[in-house]
Amino acid sequence: MNDVIVVASGKGGTGKSTVCVGLSVALVKQNKRVLLIDCDCGMRGIDLMLDADEEILFDCSDAVSGNCKPEEAVYRSKNMRELDLMAAPFDTDNEISPSVFRQLVDELKGSYDYVIIDSPAGIGSGFATAAAPADKALIVTNAEPTSVRGAVKIRSKLIAIGIDDIRLVINRFDRAQFDQLGCYNDLDEVIDRTGTRLIALVPFDLRLSAIMQNGYAGLNWSPAVTVFDCLSRRLAGENVPLAFTG
Ligand SMILES: Nc1ncnc2c1ncn2[C@@H]1O[C@H](COP(=O)(O)OP(=O)(O)O)[C@@H](O)[C@H]1O
Ligand SMILES: [Mg+2]
Repeated sequence: MNDVIVVASGKGGTGKSTVCVGLSVALVKQNKRVLLIDCDCGMRGIDLMLDADEEILFDCSDAVSGNCKPEEAVYRSKNMRELDLMAAPFDTDNEISPSVFRQLVDELKGSYDYVIIDSPAGIGSGFATAAAPADKALIVTNAEPTSVRGAVKIRSKLIAIGIDDIRLVINRFDRAQFDQLGCYNDLDEVIDRTGTRLIALVPFDLRLSAIMQNGYAGLNWSPAVTVFDCLSRRLAGENVPLAFTG
């Protein structure tokens, strides 16, 4: 099996990169072979979360332009040697087309159980490229209207390009804040509005944020790590709970 999963959101800052890293780490812990590709071209960040920024010479634009072989742009994460990482380019000068990116992923995916692709915010060409090789998608949203609107938009874009295996991750969930905002009666309303089945409910967790921002992903534990473990198992079809009920 090799699943290619794009993680998207429409709106920026919902936690796509955090979910990509948390999920990839969880999959590796279950002995899955994982390639994590940062396709947020011009705004890469996953290398920082995994403390790999110093090591990276080639990124995915080098791999598609022939500056290096595709395997030469794959780095083993220092934090977690079993997790393979391909970085996004720093600039957007050399935009990667959807068909070229798909070709790159097709070439590499045979060696992995999962290819996880982080995507940029928005519904433009960067998103189209990130999603092109995927057969599944995770939409990451926060439980607030502007973010939910982004989730609805990105869902229709995903369906338009032929991806209909889509699940919802609600991230940064804080029950007290949710109740205080008063935008929705309950979480079911959020899920209904996105029109997407829920697969994970990730709590607002400052410790998780600190782990990611300090480059400790894969090394430290926080409550949200348990949720990513459940997410990874649910993706594989295991019947495990969401692990977090707020
Ligand atoms: N569950 C969470 N709890 C607390 N902070 C989070 C959570 N998920 C993400 N964050 C923080 O929110 C910010 C945006 O996350 P990021 O993953 O970079 O979003 P995106 O990739 O969608 O732009 C970062 O500071 C990150 O550490
Ligand atoms: Mg990001």
